[in-house]
Amino acid sequence: MSATVAETFGLSRTFGAKTAVDKVDLTIQKGTVYGLLGPNGSGKTTAMRMLTGLLRPSGGHAVVLGTRLPGNPEPLKRRIGYMTQGFTHYRDLTVTENLHFVADIHDFSRSEKRQRINELLEIYDLDAQANMLAGAMSGGQRQRLALAATVLHGPELLFLDEPTSAVDPETRRNFWEQLFDLVEAGTTIIVSTHLMDEAERCHRIAILDHGQKRADGTPHDLMEQVAGRVFEVSGTNLRPISRTLANGADILSVSQIGARLRVLVSKTAENPQAAVEVALRGISDTISQPTRPNLEDVFVLATRNPVR
Ligand SMILES: Nc1ncnc2c1ncn2[C@@H]1O[C@H](COP(=O)(O)OP(=O)(O)O)[C@@H](O)[C@H]1O
Ligand SMILES: [Mg+2]
Repeated sequence: MSATVAETFGLSRTFGAKTAVDKVDLTIQKGTVYGLLGPNGSGKTTAMRMLTGLLRPSGGHAVVLGTRLPGNPEPLKRRIGYMTQGFTHYRDLTVTENLHFVADIHDFSRSEKRQRINELLEIYDLDAQANMLAGAMSGGQRQRLALAATVLHGPELLFLDEPTSAVDPETRRNFWEQLFDLVEAGTTIIVSTHLMDEAERCHRIAILDHGQKRADGTPHDLMEQVAGRVFEVSGTNLRPISRTLANGADILSVSQIGARLRVLVSKTAENPQAAVEVALRGISDTISQPTRPNLEDVFVLATRNPVR
């Protein structure tokens, strides 16, 4: 049976006249990776800070591991881990020194501390770097240190704010394998990202735009829901067709991917195929075919104004 670990009800936060998070409802189940997908400024960090109890909501409320927020966030602190955006440790401390520093914050006894740090060095493949200055390590090693420091006290719920925006694809893939190992052990993970490939790895995602939730669900279901509104146009002279389509009624976006145009049609269009084909009329050698939606299509369709 799945259990709800975190839930928000109309969660909102304003900064002066700016609404950073706007009446967001989320439900996050135990033992899953939940993604907050959105561009810069869409409210991901603000939402996370409220869920960790660091920032007081201006409206609505959340229940995180049974703790109601706003309220007293103290009981939460030991049970969550938070890797902030661009997380850095002390570059002038070694890996072991960094982990000792974090362990001291969490009041570990001397023996517990040594044992837990040794365990983390092994899990995160940092044994060989134990005495290396954090500042001298590769991006992937530093990221493993960041994760080790975040999970040191065995949190039930992890918040990772854009954890892999700055690393290469292989490092990102390895990082995600480690996240699923944590999930296997029962940890729940809330991760923010603006990267589609990262969002696709999540069990469920919420798409945020201008502080509002525009869609949520499993990546698979979200992609299914926009089926029939994504087309590929192939032909010999695509640039003029692209310009015509860009001005077409019901066309939300046109982008060229190699030798094809990817065309997204508004959900208000009565006949999506016809909305594309009208731009191809009289042009020979050009075909339009429905194609499988990807998460980027879902994102564009969820965040574009449907009526232009
Ligand atoms: N402390 C703050 N003071 C004023 N505006 C803020 C503050 N924090 C965030 N914002 C604004 O709220 C919006 C959402 O920001 P943020 O949550 O950081 O988005 P994201 O993490 O998705 O990039 C942005 O317009 C940002 O400028
Ligand atoms: Mg952010």
